[in-house]
Amino acid sequence: MGLTKVHTRLITYLLSFKKLLQDAAGVLLLRQWKQIEKENIVSVEDSMLPEIRKIQAEGFKNGSLEKLVKYSKNSRNIFYVIKNGDKVVGYCIYYLKPILSFKGFEKQSVICSIATDRNFRGRGFAEKLLENSIEEMKLNGISSILLYVNVNNLPAIRLYKKTGFRVIKEVINICGQKETCYEMEFRLF
Ligand SMILES: CC(C)(COP(=O)(O)OP(=O)(O)OC[C@H]1O[C@@H](n2cnc3c(N)ncnc32)[C@H](O)[C@@H]1OP(=O)(O)O)[C@@H](O)C(=O)NCCC(=O)NCCS
Repeated sequence: MGLTKVHTRLITYLLSFKKLLQDAAGVLLLRQWKQIEKENIVSVEDSMLPEIRKIQAEGFKNGSLEKLVKYSKNSRNIFYVIKNGDKVVGYCIYYLKPILSFKGFEKQSVICSIATDRNFRGRGFAEKLLENSIEEMKLNGISSILLYVNVNNLPAIRLYKKTGFRVIKEVINICGQKETCYEMEFRLF
C-alpha cells in the first residue's frame, strides 16, 4: 500500500474516532437535561420520523433518515419538533459538545438541522422553535450556540439574525463540497 493511501486511511480512522468521542461526550452532557414548559413544541418521538423525513427532504438535498434516527436516539431532548394541532410542521436538531476556552470548560451546542414544512413557512414556526430551544439551552448552562448556513440561503440567514445570531466567519466545505457558508454564533453567557 502506498504512503498516501496509508496516510488517507489513518486520517479517516482518526476522524471517525474523533466523531465517536464527540457523540459520547454529547450524550454525557445531555444527562439531567432540564426542560422548560413549551407550547406546541415537543421532543421527537419515533412515530414522528416519517413526517420529519418528508420535511427534511423538502429542505435539503443531502438529508437522510439515518441521520434523523441517530439524533433521535442520541439527542432526543434536544431534537425539537413543532406542531400545528396534531401535525408536525417543523423541527430543529442540536447536538452538544464540550469546548475549552480561556474561561475553562464550556458546553456548546450546534444546530445541525432546522426546517419547516413547505406549506407552513412564513408563519413564525422556525422562529418559535429557535426562541424556545435557546431559552432551554440557557437554563442548561450552554455557553454558546453555533450553526453553519450557506451564504446564499437568505431566508435562513434572516431568521438567524432576527433571533440574535451573528456571523463569525466564512468557511468552505461544511455545507457541501466547495460551498461557502457562514459560521454563526449566539452567545448565551
Ligand atoms: C429557513 C426556514 C427554516 C424558515 O422557516 P419559517 O418557519 O418559514 O420561518 P419563520 O416564519 O419563523 O420566519 C422568521 C423570520 O425568518 C426570516 N425569513 C423566513 N423566511 C423568509 C423568506 N422566505 N425570506 C426572507 N426572510 C425570511 C424573516 O426574518 C422572518 O421574520 P418576519 O416574517 O418577521 O420577517 C425555512 O425556510 C426552511 O425550512 N428552509 C429550508 C431548510 C433550510 O434552509 N434550513 C436552514 C438550513 S441552515
